[in-house]
Amino acid sequence: MDLKQSINKNNIPQHIAIVMDGNGRWAKQHGEDRIFGHHEGVNSVREIVEACGEIGVKYLTLYAFSTENWNRPKDEVDSLMELLVSTISMETPNLNKKGVKLQAIGDIKSLPESCQRELQESIDITSKNDTVTLILALSYSSKWEITNAVQQIAKQVEAGKLKASEITAKHIEQNLTTSKFPDPELMIRTSGEHRISNFLLWQLAYTEFYFTDILWPDFRKDEFFKAIISFQSRERRFGKTSEQISTN
Ligand code: IPE
Ligand code: IPE
Ligand code: MG
Repeated sequence: MDLKQSINKNNIPQHIAIVMDGNGRWAKQHGEDRIFGHHEGVNSVREIVEACGEIGVKYLTLYAFSTENWNRPKDEVDSLMELLVSTISMETPNLNKKGVKLQAIGDIKSLPESCQRELQESIDITSKNDTVTLILALSYSSKWEITNAVQQIAKQVEAGKLKASEITAKHIEQNLTTSKFPDPELMIRTSGEHRISNFLLWQLAYTEFYFTDILWPDFRKDEFFKAIISFQSRERRFGKTSEQISTN
């Protein structure tokens, strides 16, 4: 069956967020070091970005490195940072050709200088593109992001520009690193783990979740299309009743 043909073109999520998990286990299954799995995971990233362009997903957020991932062995962290630099440098022409605009969320200043430079360069080069916005979550965690937002808002209150009683959800959203992007309609996590791991806690408030046992390096276009088809079979009620939704 051609999965891509089964997708309803009128109900494509405009923003999909993915927790790309399982690289280490994939490498182990293949008798290799963990970093081998991360390298293979890049091929999945390339395919999924391309798939977004093909079916019209406008925003793709990929959880590439969490705040907690700094606690991994130094060797693995160093290799991941090197992989990030080499991948961005190698893939930028391809991203540009496909009309992909690169963005990043997270504590970017905590990344090694070389990563920050490469990332900024690619963000600048691709800034005029508008087919797909690829948002890399790097040194990202939701609790870090929300804490920052609270600090920013508290400063406004301290300065007398805002009253505590006037704070709304809008103020919080405007101070998150995702303020320029719509909330994801679909969140995918690979590798059989059923948790959020500090990812987009605020933004996923009404997102549909899709979990698969497939490990990230094996998650390619057809697996992605399956997730979208699953999304399209769901009724999003936002607190209302099913009857209210169907008469709308
Ligand atoms: C996801 O794969 C990639 C990162 C977190 C950077 P893992 O490295 O977490 O793979 P597993 O979970 O150990 O299999
Ligand atoms: C989540 O994966 C972070 C990324 C995919 C970058 P982890 O593999 O680090 O998550 P936990 O720690 O097992 O929940
Ligand atoms: Mg993992």
